[in-house]
Amino acid sequence: MKVRKRRRAPTSPLEKANRKSDQDFIADYLQPGAPGLLPWIREWKHPRTQEDYTVDLVKSNLMQEDEIQACFRLIEETSRSDYENSTTRWTPDSKLKEMRSEGLRYILVRDGDRSVRGFTSLMPTYEEGQPVVYCYEIHLKPDLQGTRLGALLMGFQATVAYNLPPISKVMLTCFLSNTRGLEFYKKAGFVRDDLSPEVRKLRGKMCTPDYVIMSKTISRIRGDETERMPAAACPPMANGGVSKKVAIGREVG
Ligand SMILES: CC(C)(COP(=O)(O)OP(=O)(O)OC[C@H]1O[C@@H](n2cnc3c(N)ncnc32)[C@H](O)[C@@H]1OP(=O)(O)O)[C@@H](O)C(=O)NCCC(=O)NCCS
Repeated sequence: MKVRKRRRAPTSPLEKANRKSDQDFIADYLQPGAPGLLPWIREWKHPRTQEDYTVDLVKSNLMQEDEIQACFRLIEETSRSDYENSTTRWTPDSKLKEMRSEGLRYILVRDGDRSVRGFTSLMPTYEEGQPVVYCYEIHLKPDLQGTRLGALLMGFQATVAYNLPPISKVMLTCFLSNTRGLEFYKKAGFVRDDLSPEVRKLRGKMCTPDYVIMSKTISRIRGDETERMPAAACPPMANGGVSKKVAIGREVG
C-alpha cells in the first residue's frame, strides 16, 4: 500500500499566498486595490482602437502549452536582442524553464480571438531575506505599447505587494541596454536597489554588470497615516518560492 504523505501546512504568508488558487489570489491580493491604484479588472479597452481585451490570472502550472509559447515568443520579439548582447545570452531552454517556475503567476492580456497580446508575471518570494513581489516579465505587443496598459499591469504588481504583508517591495531586473524599459520603470517609481550588482574587479579585469536590479517600496496607508514598512528579514521559504540565490541568478527580463 502506498503511504500518502500529508502536505505540510504553509508556515509563512508568502508560502500561503503561493499555494492559493488563482481565484483566491485575486480575491485576497488583487481585488482590494492599493490606494491610488485600480483594483483587478477582467476587461480592458484599447484607448486608440477601442478593441476589447480580457485580463486573466493564471498559475504557471495551469498555463496551456500554447499560452507559455505565446508568452515566450513575445519575450523573444521585444527583448531577444537585449539578451543576445548580454552575458546572459539568449537561451530558450533556460528561459522556458524559468517561465514554468512553481509559484509564478501570469497576468495575460488576450484579444477577442484569445491570442495573448501582452503579459506580466510575478511571484511573492524572498530575495536576500527580504519579502518582495518579484516581477519576472512584462511584455506587450508593439500595438499595445504606449497605451498605459504597462502602467496598469505594474499597478497590479504593486497591489499584490500592498495586500500581502510583510512584503515591502516590488523588485525586478532590467538590462541596461533596454533604455525604454528603464525609463518606464523610473516613471513608475522604481529606483536602483541595494542588491543591484556593482562594478567588480575579477582577475585584474573590471566587470561591469549589464543589468540592474530595481525596486519600488510599497507604503501602507492606515487612516491618514502612511506606514513605511520595514524590509523585515525573513528566512527563505521552505517551498513555494524560488530561493534567493536562484532568484538573484534568474534570467533578466
Ligand atoms: C515597457 C512596457 C511594458 C511599457 O508599457 P507601455 O504600455 O508601453 O507604457 P505606458 O503607456 O503604461 O507608460 C506609463 C508611463 O510611463 C511613460 N513611459 C513609458 N515608456 C517611456 C519611455 N521610454 N520614456 C519615458 N517615459 C516612458 C509613459 O509616458 C507613461 O507616463 P504617464 O504616466 O505620464 O502617462 C512596454 O513598452 C513593452 O512591452 N516594451 C517592450 C518589452 C520590454 O521592454 N519589457 C521590459 C523588460 S525589462
